[in-house]
Amino acid sequence: MDIQWYPGHMAKARRQVQQNLQMVDVVIELLDARIPASSRNPDINAILKDKPRLVVLNKSDLADPEITAVWLDYFTSKGLPAVAVDAHHGAGVKKMVALTERLAQPAIKKYMARGRLARLARCMVVGVPNVGKSMLINRLAGKKAARTGNRPGVTRGEQWIKLGGKLELLDTPGILWPKFEDPETAYKLAVTGAIKEQIYNPEEICTKLVQWLLDNAPDALAKRYKLRDLPENVWEVIEKIGVYRGFYLSGGRIDEYKTAVFIIKEFREGSLGKYSLELPLQ
Ligand code: G4P
Repeated sequence: MDIQWYPGHMAKARRQVQQNLQMVDVVIELLDARIPASSRNPDINAILKDKPRLVVLNKSDLADPEITAVWLDYFTSKGLPAVAVDAHHGAGVKKMVALTERLAQPAIKKYMARGRLARLARCMVVGVPNVGKSMLINRLAGKKAARTGNRPGVTRGEQWIKLGGKLELLDTPGILWPKFEDPETAYKLAVTGAIKEQIYNPEEICTKLVQWLLDNAPDALAKRYKLRDLPENVWEVIEKIGVYRGFYLSGGRIDEYKTAVFIIKEFREGSLGKYSLELPLQ
């Protein structure tokens, strides 16, 4: 999904999340495990207030597992339970459901203490575009999941998906905006695929990425593109990868644009390895 955010759009998104918040006991805050800070909505604490929340680091199959562990400790130390998942293949999803169910219990107990009959706990997923909200919901709504129909207060078409024995998930996620003012954050969102090609210049993003790979993972770069003598200069590396892939323009020049798009795609898909681009600020 590619959304052009503007103030009116952001206010509407916030209102929609706040409306749905009233119907749920727990929020699943979905982040990209490779960039947990950059893929976080800057106003999330003000939007969710004191609603119980589980931080879920998705795409953990693409992230550095050691850095993911550091992030999990960081969120836990801030009083936010956190879990890593891979919505693509399903790893961690069961644990996520169990933790969500547990986090919902105080609200259910409070509800029953008012003399009402027990009800199922309810949760929803929120996150910035492309963090994997739809993939996670689709995985949870797989063949086995029962859809439990419309409920009062739920927009037409929205449904609850039954997870485990005690929990229901709203099948429509809350879409929030990322932090786009900071160029470093914008770079990380672009290189991981959260921002689409039309909005950024692939050659600019690729030069930064190749510099990062030269500094952090030169062996992976050399091995993947069979670069026996890895140049120190970023453009020379890009040229060599273009030659390796045969991305020529008429006249025999290397198609730098095509090469840049290709390198970014390889990085996003994890073909160069599992990398995380940021650590928590202590
Ligand atoms: P959204 O609803 O939050 O906007 O995100 P969505 O589920 O559409 O996922 C965005 C992209 O991230 C999709 O790739 C999806 O396949 C991928 N993705 C989601 N979760 C994971 C995960 O845990 N691991 C990995 N490796 N990928 C994940 P896409 O290239 O945009 O589309 P597609 O053609 O792959 O579907």
